[in-house]
Amino acid sequence: MFDSGVCGTLFRQRHFPPGHVVVLFVGLSILYLLVILQMFQTTSKHSIEINRLVREQIQREYRPEKVTNTTPETLPEEAHGGPTQTVSKSTLAPTKVPYYDVTPPNLAKITTLTQDLELLLSEPVINPHNFNYVHNPDDVCKKQKAKLLIVTPSAPANVKKRTQVRKIIHKLLNGTSLYKDVVHLFFLGSPNGRCTSQNASQIIEKEVKKYNDIVQEDFLEFYGNIRYKAVSMLKWASTFCYNASYVLRIDDDVTANLSQAIASLRTFGCYHEDFILGKALEGCKPMRKRHVKYFISKEEYPHSLYPTFALGGLLGYPLSTVRLLYEASLRVKPIWLDDVYITGICRTKLNISLFTQKEFVFDHINDGSLVPLS
Ligand SMILES: *[C@@H]1O[C@H](CO)[C@@H](O)[C@H](O)[C@H]1NC(C)=O
Ligand SMILES: *[C@@H]1O[C@H](CO)[C@@H](O)[C@H](O)[C@H]1NC(C)=O
Ligand SMILES: *[C@@H]1O[C@H](CO)[C@@H](O)[C@H](O)[C@H]1NC(C)=O
Ligand SMILES: *[C@@H]1O[C@H](CO)[C@@H](O)[C@H](O)[C@H]1NC(C)=O
Ligand SMILES: *[C@@H]1O[C@H](CO)[C@@H](O)[C@H](O)[C@H]1NC(C)=O
Repeated sequence: MFDSGVCGTLFRQRHFPPGHVVVLFVGLSILYLLVILQMFQTTSKHSIEINRLVREQIQREYRPEKVTNTTPETLPEEAHGGPTQTVSKSTLAPTKVPYYDVTPPNLAKITTLTQDLELLLSEPVINPHNFNYVHNPDDVCKKQKAKLLIVTPSAPANVKKRTQVRKIIHKLLNGTSLYKDVVHLFFLGSPNGRCTSQNASQIIEKEVKKYNDIVQEDFLEFYGNIRYKAVSMLKWASTFCYNASYVLRIDDDVTANLSQAIASLRTFGCYHEDFILGKALEGCKPMRKRHVKYFISKEEYPHSLYPTFALGGLLGYPLSTVRLLYEASLRVKPIWLDDVYITGICRTKLNISLFTQKEFVFDHINDGSLVPLS
């Protein structure tokens, strides 16, 4: 994620040529230099222009946005200036249980409250996560008496990936009674119109009817909003699945042995109260070049190092940790990089340990044709 490039230059030795060849050589060199100079003037103008465009695009694309809180008929124009997309009212109508109707149980009931924790929790809420639910299977954990909740962040357009992940997880869960108290859910934002067909909402509607495994909130789905996605999963687990012991997050594009990760999480939980299992990255520096994917400005994050954080692709934690991270996310100054924010900054504020476990070291798959989980 944060590799630095290594540059090498090749030099070749030259022999000094005889007299008339030198004259010809010098003449040609001058001509060549003139041509190069001319080209350079043109291209540098070009590259300044391209840099400006890229910078502007990144600024537009990576700024978090929120869909208007009232039921939107028209989603805001998406980042590349494409056509605005109309979504029928019925598909975006909030479900019967808005966020404020349900209160998670008292924190003191689920974890030990130290003085430091109480101090943090007494700070004012500066980032409320008050999006409406478009779809919310709010009673699945209760019905199944879930002890483990598996969450998969997914983009509305990733219908195929969801099908693949469902297939593998259903097979795993169905294979043995070990997993009868496991619930698996996808977490979606609202289609942004750029990467999704006009039918995205209808397709999601069908998936909901068939599988009832989708939680969808009305923030706009795009890369700059990944923090909202991360917080939405913490919030849902804290609010609608608080009787579970653990939450496992697995992205729809990673390969890992899920049964081993679950076993590792359960074993670890026998000996520790609050913790995060994942693949930790230590000593990472913020990217300050505007055109890179993980660019972050000094205004957003002034320090020269990130705290140790875990990659979001595969994470395991007890429910109490999830709840604490959610509470912290409401109060700690945010940055848009969700992994760094939640498992780095918020975790450090809470004094929760992060462990790299070999079962949580995963690979990404890129072409979508491979089997993601096992
Ligand atoms: C949690 O367990 C309690 C006690 O058994 C029950 O009353 C409550 O409905 C459960 N809630 C959820 C969300 O599972
Ligand atoms: C699990 O297996 C049973 C019997 O083999 C089947 O009826 C059921 O649909 C399966 N459930 C899932 C979620 O795959
Ligand atoms: C929308 O779905 C219908 C069938 O459900 C299909 O015929 C049509 O081509 C789809 N449109 C788009 C833009 O994907
Ligand atoms: C995943 O781990 C389990 C338990 O160790 C093992 O039985 C299974 O074969 C593994 N699956 C793969 C594909 O390696
Ligand atoms: C963090 O945890 C350690 C060990 O549990 C403890 O000694 C320390 O006081 C804690 N610090 C804060 C700020 O909570």
